[in-house]
Amino acid sequence: MVAPFDATEFRRTLGCLPTGVTVITTNMPGGEPAGMACNSFMSVSLDPPLIMLCVGHASSTLIELRQSGAFCVNILGSDQGRLCRQFSVKDIDRFAGVSWTESAAGPELCDALAWMSCSIETEQVAGDHVIIVAAVTALRVNRDEPAPLVFHRGRFGSFREATAEPLAR
Ligand SMILES: Cc1cc2nc3c(=O)[nH]c(=O)nc-3n(C[C@H](O)[C@H](O)[C@H](O)COP(=O)(O)O)c2cc1C
Repeated sequence: MVAPFDATEFRRTLGCLPTGVTVITTNMPGGEPAGMACNSFMSVSLDPPLIMLCVGHASSTLIELRQSGAFCVNILGSDQGRLCRQFSVKDIDRFAGVSWTESAAGPELCDALAWMSCSIETEQVAGDHVIIVAAVTALRVNRDEPAPLVFHRGRFGSFREATAEPLAR
């Protein structure tokens, strides 16, 4: 199918919707850490607890995720924009200067708001990405402050509560 709009228009439209930001981490066969910034994370099911994310076919992290079968979702706070960028740049040590602790699913970044250990259940090819559905096997909220990191129109920001207005009747 040929889309009746171009890629720039598509990106610009999608950019209208803000998202939270995560870093997905996993353990490579030799024990070294791997990870990538990911904003396509979403909850899927409460019972059983399932989440999903979309990873590009060209992503080297996809190979590591498939090999391991497990990963850790690190939910970022608004003070972690630089960290997020670091986890999106190719051919650098993404863990340089980052504090993390080992876990069976993947490294837990010390300053993340929360962690979820996940085990891959299914994969579905969707265009140039792969949809990964995974079971949540363990979780922990690490800190309640600051507000979460928000990604909007290619920029990082923070969440601010709106003033509650009465509903029109
Ligand atoms: C805010 C942000 C969100 C991102 N979200 C995704 C995502 O959901 N899926 C994805 O495949 N790449 C995403 N990326 C790009 C990856 O972090 C990374 O650049 C890409 O996977 C290539 O690196 P790799 O080959 O080492 O995996 C995102 C980047 C940024 C900055």
